[in-house]
Amino acid sequence: MYQIYPLSWADSNRDGFGDLPGITAHLDHLAGRPDSLGVDAIWLSPIYRSPMVDFGYDISDHCSVDPRFGTLADADLLFGEAHGRGLRVLLDYVPNHTSDQHPWFAQSRSSRRNRYRDWYVWADPGPDGGPPNNWLSAFERTGPAWTYDQATGQWYLHSFTSAQPDLNWRNPDARAAMHDVLRFWLRRGVDGFRIDVPHRLGKHPELADNPADVAALRRCSQLDERRHNSMDHPDGHDMMRRIRAVVDEFPGRVLVGEVGVHHPQRRLAYHGSDGDELHLIFDFGFWRNPWRADAFRAAGARLARWPDAHRWPTHALSNHDIRRHATRFARAAEDGPDTLARVRVAAILLLTLPGTTFLYYGEEIGMTDLAVPAAHVHDPDGRDPCRSPMRWRSGPGAGFTEGQPWLPTGSEGPTVAGQDRDPGSVLNLYRRLVRLRAGDERLRLGGYRLVDSDPDVYAFLRLASVGAAARQGAAVTGRAGDPAGRLLVLANFADQPRQTGLDRDAESLPGQGVLLAGSGQRPAGVRIRLTDLVLCADEAMVIEI
Ligand code: BGC
Repeated sequence: MYQIYPLSWADSNRDGFGDLPGITAHLDHLAGRPDSLGVDAIWLSPIYRSPMVDFGYDISDHCSVDPRFGTLADADLLFGEAHGRGLRVLLDYVPNHTSDQHPWFAQSRSSRRNRYRDWYVWADPGPDGGPPNNWLSAFERTGPAWTYDQATGQWYLHSFTSAQPDLNWRNPDARAAMHDVLRFWLRRGVDGFRIDVPHRLGKHPELADNPADVAALRRCSQLDERRHNSMDHPDGHDMMRRIRAVVDEFPGRVLVGEVGVHHPQRRLAYHGSDGDELHLIFDFGFWRNPWRADAFRAAGARLARWPDAHRWPTHALSNHDIRRHATRFARAAEDGPDTLARVRVAAILLLTLPGTTFLYYGEEIGMTDLAVPAAHVHDPDGRDPCRSPMRWRSGPGAGFTEGQPWLPTGSEGPTVAGQDRDPGSVLNLYRRLVRLRAGDERLRLGGYRLVDSDPDVYAFLRLASVGAAARQGAAVTGRAGDPAGRLLVLANFADQPRQTGLDRDAESLPGQGVLLAGSGQRPAGVRIRLTDLVLCADEAMVIEI
């Protein structure tokens, strides 16, 4: 799946903001042509009408398209063009909150007796006249999760900015209205949704304080065994099941959840006890991996161990909320000439590890974060640098816009045009890997086995498909002596060449194989001797053995 941040992908009308016609015009980049990236699906961050305080995650009309992005007709056209290329389309669904400019909230705040009052979470002041409890907003600088409404003498809850009041999912009318939002888009043909912070729907029914020792922790991701009362309440699972039931009215659709719960069991609980909640859940641990073989080895083990037929792993290294991995993993400039070497290694891992891969626009050319001068900062949580516009070609506007871009495009850096015909480019490595994966059941569905190797070299096998067994819940372990036709993936995390140390696993490996894709200079198709193989610094390979 390929995540598009619509504000930053392609501007068709020179207003400096990306838009839907811009996306439609650039779909060839993703699918439909022999030189497309070859992804199966796109996920669009929010496209709905929004005052853009949180850049679309503050929605003021769920069943419209923000004029910056175009019209509903533009959306229909985009869905049709995408489907014509075999691309599925996922939208972002933001159930926890709306914009404070949403007509529902305008009604809700107008009077305590308004019929929309209970659609949001209102509470009387605490004993000292302050906020009703000690819950905090998730954005570092915004303080308590409550804002006082002078006119009606109560506080409203906002887990994020004060412009994003939380909906009350215990209210049946609010729930039904949000279910209808799903149906509205499903009827227009969307193939599913990425659900924003689903773990925030379930809150303590009495709005009890968070335990004192966790009150200072704003993000659930900082929690382990300890619970917040402001999120991840068990009642949230019923709310998720109902969302899933609506989506199941439409066959073949998918739900991906951004469950920001660090504790693995509690995070995975959002698949539902019987697979009746989310189909897919982002793996927060994976995108926090530091650049170390042992960290990726541990992540690989986690991805390979899905416990039942209802769960399927996912992995991503970048998105619109975190620093791009090309920036996080960058070596100090003096360390090496090829700053994109690690991006190449990461691409090989992303596209060969078990599970569904999520790519973030621009990573396929190695885009890095772009510093945003203080005077031009937009985002309340400091995330502008990872949202800089797609770099299609060099020159002012980088092919993203002919107007004034809403965020800097950078005057230099990788471009699609610059990498298009260079066989050694990051873009062409991504193209090769996506295609390899699409055509190879071992990479999509097959088993996984760790191979003993040098500590700095992560080595694993993808095995002939375990098919039905995997789908019915067998742990994917694989055995030495699996049938021929395995893939060996090697990644050297050291900044020095490394002997792979594969001789430690010599019993289960042949003496040589054929390179299918590599991050370095060696061309695909060459024979690789495994016994005394030395990988260059930051080099990875996929070898058929
Ligand atoms: C989204 C953020 C957004 C927040 C509030 C997150 O998880 O990914 O971009 O600011 O939810 O909607």
